[in-house]
Amino acid sequence: MTLVPSPLVVEQSVSPPVQAWLDTHRETRLLIGGEWTPARSGKTFDTVNPSTAQPLARVAEADKADTDAAVRASRTAFDSGPWPRMSPHERGRIMRRFGRLIEDHEDVLTELETLDNGMTIGTSKAFFAVAMESYDFFAGQTTVVMGHTMPAAEGAFNYTRREPLGVVAGIIPWNAPITSALWKVGPALATGNAVILKPAEQASLTCVYLAELAVEAGFPPGVFSVLTGFGPGAGSSLAEHPEVDKISFTGSTEVGKLILRASTGNLKRVTLELGGKSPNVVFADADLDEAVPFALAAFTTLTGQACGAGSRLFVQRELKDEFVDRLARQADALVIGDPMLPETAIGPLASLEQFDRVRGYLAAGKDGGAVVRIGGDAIDGPGYFVRPTIFDRVDNSMKIAREEIFGPVLSVIPFEDEDDAVFQGNDSAYGLGASVWTRDVSRAHTVAHRLKAGMVWVNTYLALDPTMPLGGYKQSGIGREMGPNWYQHFTEEKAVYVKL
Ligand code: NAI
Ligand code: MG
Repeated sequence: MTLVPSPLVVEQSVSPPVQAWLDTHRETRLLIGGEWTPARSGKTFDTVNPSTAQPLARVAEADKADTDAAVRASRTAFDSGPWPRMSPHERGRIMRRFGRLIEDHEDVLTELETLDNGMTIGTSKAFFAVAMESYDFFAGQTTVVMGHTMPAAEGAFNYTRREPLGVVAGIIPWNAPITSALWKVGPALATGNAVILKPAEQASLTCVYLAELAVEAGFPPGVFSVLTGFGPGAGSSLAEHPEVDKISFTGSTEVGKLILRASTGNLKRVTLELGGKSPNVVFADADLDEAVPFALAAFTTLTGQACGAGSRLFVQRELKDEFVDRLARQADALVIGDPMLPETAIGPLASLEQFDRVRGYLAAGKDGGAVVRIGGDAIDGPGYFVRPTIFDRVDNSMKIAREEIFGPVLSVIPFEDEDDAVFQGNDSAYGLGASVWTRDVSRAHTVAHRLKAGMVWVNTYLALDPTMPLGGYKQSGIGREMGPNWYQHFTEEKAVYVKL
């Protein structure tokens, strides 16, 4: 492993435009009803750069009083404002203006994201491209939110309409905030809803930046609001609010369940994109020149903090040792260090909390009897760095194979044949992603059909396209984002019966 001499990040270079933004945003504000305002309590909290463990800015801490104000403004914008009433062409025009502004600010946004959550600058750019592709997909489809004309008896005219839900709150995590934010606000806005974005407390800055661009784009006041703050507080008050019509949430399964429980007061609509423990299944006939680097990327992209991370690697027994050798050699060559440097592959974990959690799992793996093939420990700070870790001789029943770690930690588990691979792969509370590597086309599809996961990759990993649905089976979530039915979860379907 190539190590920048410790401490890993002595001084991080910040570009003049990002520094200028930080200088003018030492204390960020909330966007409520089109106005930037401090939290009503006056409270703020620090957002920390995980590479250096130094604070970057103070962020406004919204609580219930701010949520009430934001929901009131959003309700007005939805119930009597122009946004849901204008033509879909006009809505699309404003959305595209916002999209162009985001694109124009790519350099600042991607750098700010890296400073705030530690993702490498290369990954930040790659996720930005995914985010823009998704946003453009939604902004380009305001006119396809269609109902149907149904067959009916003579003298009857039956049709359906797709109507916006009202006030939608998007509650997102810290691992890829720009992408998550646009996956929430894109479909909500394209269908004519008012949206309140609640960033994660660990990485709020790019959401504040996006909101400034939204103001510039000219959304009517109250259509796009941002409430920064903590989960208990800003998050829970949105989840409980009787005037919020829908929560679109990405984050932990634990909090997903809390949100579902909180939603019962007014039966708000809830979609959940939650965690995973995705199986990456490699058969002995796989193309190793492809399978090995993808297996590596599957557990190290975003320093392992990806919902679809391939954190359980199942390799057919006769191939297992050779595969792990090759994988370990490639993992060893990854540059770990300052995420602002283009050569860096492994940046810090996003927060101290995550650093502690991942270190706990490293200990649990060793205690449970798994064999550390590479890595296995943290690197002295400042900064929240752990080494990419491959645990060999893992049994699927071990804690490290059952729980989402959300760090660069891989569990390698052998399998005998197709039935065994499918059984072990599916033996999980989660069902977000899965992958199968084989040159046998029948087996590829058979296994793809048998794996219980919302997304299955064949001879690739973590491919994403907004034309495809994203979401999970089992405790990985409820509902889907994007895909051909993208507007289903952001609209009500109304049946209109007309007697002629
Ligand atoms: P989290 O689920 O607590 O946080 C996600 C979002 O939910 C944040 O905006 C947070 O403020 C909000 N939130 C927290 N409690 C809430 C509540 N009671 N009501 C409403 N909103 C609430 O995730 P956390 O604690 O940051 O990470 C814990 C673990 O969750 C990670 O180690 C990872 O395993 C998993 N996770 C999965 C993600 C995914 O993309 N599937 C993303 C982030 C975390
Ligand atoms: Mg939490």
